Amino acid sequence: MSRPYVITVSSEKGGVGKTTLATNLAVYLKALSEDLPVTILSFDNHFTVDRMFRLSSDQAEYHVGHLFRDVAATELIRQGEYGVQIIPSCHNLNIFNKQAPSDEQLAEILSKVHLGGVLIIDTCPILDPYTRNALYAADRVIVPIKDAPSLENCRHLANFFTDHGISRSPLRLLPCLIDSRIHYSGPFRNSYQLLKAYAINRGYRCLEGFIAKSPKVESLATNPEGKVYPVLTHGRSTDVHLQFSHLARQIYLEYLEKGPHRMGEIFEGQRTREQNLVRREQERRQRLLGHCLCCAKQLDQQQLQKAFYAETSDRELCGFIEENCFYEMIFNDLYGEQKAGSSSAIRELFRESAQRSYFLMQRLDTAKITLARLDKNGETLSQRTSDIKTTRGLLRRGTPFLHNLLEHALPQNAPGKLLLLRQNSGHNGQILAEAPYARFQTVFSRARLDFETPEDVKDPGQNNLVFP
Ligand SMILES: Nc1ncnc2c1ncn2[C@@H]1O[C@H](COP(=O)(O)OP(=O)(O)O)[C@@H](O)[C@H]1O
Ligand SMILES: [Mg+2]
Repeated sequence: MSRPYVITVSSEKGGVGKTTLATNLAVYLKALSEDLPVTILSFDNHFTVDRMFRLSSDQAEYHVGHLFRDVAATELIRQGEYGVQIIPSCHNLNIFNKQAPSDEQLAEILSKVHLGGVLIIDTCPILDPYTRNALYAADRVIVPIKDAPSLENCRHLANFFTDHGISRSPLRLLPCLIDSRIHYSGPFRNSYQLLKAYAINRGYRCLEGFIAKSPKVESLATNPEGKVYPVLTHGRSTDVHLQFSHLARQIYLEYLEKGPHRMGEIFEGQRTREQNLVRREQERRQRLLGHCLCCAKQLDQQQLQKAFYAETSDRELCGFIEENCFYEMIFNDLYGEQKAGSSSAIRELFRESAQRSYFLMQRLDTAKITLARLDKNGETLSQRTSDIKTTRGLLRRGTPFLHNLLEHALPQNAPGKLLLLRQNSGHNGQILAEAPYARFQTVFSRARLDFETPEDVKDPGQNNLVFP
């Protein structure tokens, strides 16, 4: 699979020459190697990229915002001027995508896309989520610096890499908009040399050369056609033309030598993560008991869809309780025979609320069991403490379900807890998958029974059970 070599042009300062650099680099790279696919996109909303590359006949309906909306990147790419491909810009990414992408999202999308060659990303002058995405995905980050303040701002970009635990090695500074008429006495004869020395002194690496300030280059964005022209076609007489040629050669050489290693890294990292998720889910499945923890019968697929998943706090026991066994146990063995079967409306109400609830069971001593109903955050909504009858008593008055469950999950001397959750469509029948299981564990870590005073425990009748 051919992945793109990603070059991000970024700086937290505006007007340092980012867009001029990104667009012209695209044109010069394409001119240097006709066979090299070169694609450009901008996360800024100034549309300079579009004005330079978009063919006037092009009626694209998609733009860069769609990258984050599961539209395949290859669908978004349009053939543009000078042989460069373009993904059109978006007026306001923050409005278009209400939810900001995580820093890794673009890299993950691009690592799966069949797009070879070089992808150049122009960014806006703030470290917003889209700039962060462009930095995270980059093989090479070019930071134009035109003066001391823009050099100081590089710190934030460098910190971005450190904060993500990734190497800063993609970062390269490039002095831009250098006024060649200014000379200093002393060791640094002009602002290029001075900026370069400052940069190196602060531990940054620079690309070779610089881009000079040129009135001709500045004029290329203003014309009756409303286009932005490249230096290669309309500014060949300038020094900047030679400087861009030199820059493009450096970048092309790096591309040839190193290739799209960042995308490969991202792809491998993701594959390892996915494999780990599958492995962890398999391990959880292997620990599962196949039979219902209450009636001991084997559960079929249909029963599993609606069964209650149960796990002890020491994770020694995990398995399912068939739905009807769970309700029977609640009404006959825990809720008390005086109300058992009393009102089908109450039962219905309970069944309904049980779809959305967690249940926590804990043994207080050999003779008492507490059942609490919890909300999705693990907050106790209600709880009740019941006497545990002897086996004989249970069998006489109700079912052996509670007895079976306790024997398996909460034996007499074990201090543990048991958390239960009904499988439902929200979990897609997959409570053992990473995200639902992590949620289950989060609730478990928060779940507490509310015993304010020892008296409460001794007065089980007071709490109004598990109903909403
Ligand atoms: N080498 C250059 N010489 C003269 N003007 C330039 C040069 N590069 C860029 N400019 C001008 O400087 C301004 C800012 O450049 P731009 O590329 O838009 O910077 P940024 O994207 O960092 O905001 C624009 O008006 C542009 O035409
Ligand atoms: Mg710009």
